Amino acid sequence: MSLTNVSMTVNGKTMSAAVEPRTLLIHFLRENLGLTGSHIGCDTSHCGACTVDVDGRSVKSCTMFAIQAAGADVLTIEGMAGADGKLSALQEGFREMHGLQCGFCTPGMIVRAYRLLQENKNPSEEQIRYGISGNLCRCTGYQNIVKAIQFAAAKLNGVPFQEAAE
Ligand code: FES
Ligand code: FES
Repeated sequence: MSLTNVSMTVNGKTMSAAVEPRTLLIHFLRENLGLTGSHIGCDTSHCGACTVDVDGRSVKSCTMFAIQAAGADVLTIEGMAGADGKLSALQEGFREMHGLQCGFCTPGMIVRAYRLLQENKNPSEEQIRYGISGNLCRCTGYQNIVKAIQFAAAKLNGVPFQEAAE
């Protein structure tokens, strides 16, 4: 099988690799670039564990060929923290609000929530739940994931986080 050189910006750096045209973006990220933070939970576009941001949109990277992302600006969980290692507001929210248990869904969930907060700085609980409805979590029951995203929204908006009564 002939290889094609694919190049894209990933977490602010230009990265490239020669791959078969059938290579999925998730495999390109994990196997060619060594960015194993994005997970493969199903390979059938259901779970969202593979979610990354491509040119400002959330994408399940198991549904896209790497070659389709050539030249794109891609953000993965590895690009969420600051260059100094400081956690992003979302990462802090997931830690503070116990938004994870096994953590398998967490990278996709955080990258998806990042785009959600880019599009809506102050989402309601209903909008958060709808916004992450393409990302499955088999552990948490979602309650603390919602709280984590609310925590991050409050932090980014510079207002105190007030936990809603359950
Ligand atoms: S691995 Fe992509 S949606 Fe599940
Ligand atoms: S924390 Fe285990 S799948 Fe979400």
